[in-house]
Amino acid sequence: MTTHALPTRPIPTTRAVDTTSIDTTPARGDDLDPIWRSVIPETRARSNDVHLPISLAYAERLCDAHPEADSLLVRVSILLHDTGWGRVDESRILSEGFTGDWRKSAIRFEHEKQGCEIAREVLPPLGYDDGFVREVTAIIDGHDTRPEPHSLEDALVRDADRLWRFDHAGIALASGWFGLAPAPYCDRLRREIIPELHSEAALTMATTALDRSEALLKTGVLR
Ligand SMILES: [Fe+2]
Ligand SMILES: [Fe+2]
Repeated sequence: MTTHALPTRPIPTTRAVDTTSIDTTPARGDDLDPIWRSVIPETRARSNDVHLPISLAYAERLCDAHPEADSLLVRVSILLHDTGWGRVDESRILSEGFTGDWRKSAIRFEHEKQGCEIAREVLPPLGYDDGFVREVTAIIDGHDTRPEPHSLEDALVRDADRLWRFDHAGIALASGWFGLAPAPYCDRLRREIIPELHSEAALTMATTALDRSEALLKTGVLR
């Protein structure tokens, strides 16, 4: 196992945290490009082609703040975590996946299971061993529906999955999924999503990005 025990929340970091706009640090290198190429059809669902690359960029910042974490595991897991949306009934994504008790909807569990299947299909032919694939699927399985992460790497993936929402691109896309204008959506991010973050680094990045996005989108006036 390469995962590390989950420290107490909020997970502290002794490193400097990069709080600049995420577009200043796109995901580095090309080592994951073969995985990206294997899931291109799945990136077309639910704006994964925006959500996944931005979340990977945030995941790399979190790994910089946590050099003790297995960064390859975090990066591959965040890249693949929502690909399962590409294999569920598209019409049910918004009707069930983002309304009511959306975290517990059947379609949520389905996208997690399908995401695990995709990881088992695409990773072994690219040379990733069985143990690594099991660790990736352990993170993908339940990433939205399991109440708590089971390792440091799992927690960092969850934080990266949330952090993209605080960027203006995330607000522009995800506010529509919830049928909200940007201002009340930003209120909801502050009220509901910030308390869900696990790491101090993510808390710092989220609050800085949200302040910046609210100023940019003039949510103080446009409400
Ligand atoms: Fe998800
Ligand atoms: Fe996600």
